[in-house]
Amino acid sequence: PRRMAGEPVAYLTGTKEFYGLPLQVDARVLDPRPDTETLVDWALALAAPAARMADLGTGSGAIALALQSQRPQAQVLAVDASADALAVARANARRLGLPVRFVQGHWLDGIAGPFDLIVSNPPYIPATDPHLAALTHEPLSALASGDDGLQDIRAIAAQAPSRLAPGGWLLLEHGWDQAEAVQALLRAAGFGQVHSRHDLAGMARCTGGQRTG
Ligand SMILES: C[S@@+](CC[C@H](N)C(=O)[O-])C[C@H]1O[C@@H](n2cnc3c(N)ncnc32)[C@H](O)[C@@H]1O
Repeated sequence: PRRMAGEPVAYLTGTKEFYGLPLQVDARVLDPRPDTETLVDWALALAAPAARMADLGTGSGAIALALQSQRPQAQVLAVDASADALAVARANARRLGLPVRFVQGHWLDGIAGPFDLIVSNPPYIPATDPHLAALTHEPLSALASGDDGLQDIRAIAAQAPSRLAPGGWLLLEHGWDQAEAVQALLRAAGFGQVHSRHDLAGMARCTGGQRTG
């Protein structure tokens, strides 16, 4: 049976609820996790009604669609490198009637902004992590990020400052043991107000910073 082979229930039923939205998911995208609602909560605490927002690595569209549903006047752009993931995300947006715009690309390459808020739940598992073997029903390109798991976060932190409006924020989800490293990366990239937020289990799982100047 597929369930016994470790396949997430969401791929069998096809539906997963995220931030109160029913999302269709399958093996082309990461199964949206409740932990990621922490990132959405933080983004909404910062987002003005007409905020310009970007969701990098949108997968099923979970974060972008949650933000758009809560901020109907906002301009939400969702980016993913995977055409397969974008097909799933676009179908979810259409089904929910949410006007998120979608772009296929590598992080912020070719995207000028400016954004008031950039959010991302990027791949952040070290490519050498033995737990990856148990996640074979999700695309590896959604999970693994170099030997230390920080390759994609490094790339996003380097690109984001020039795409943020002054005072704009970058918020990133990461692994339970990466908060210190991500804070250091954001400070090194020139961000101010760098701090982390805890997930439902009390782990520091999101880190953000503000473009100063
Ligand atoms: C951990 S999944 C997150 C999916 C979704 N945002 C969520 O929270 O459920 C990471 C996503 O980043 C995408 N991705 C990986 N590398 C990328 C890149 N270089 N540029 C844009 N997206 C990328 C993957 O295709 C995947 O959809």
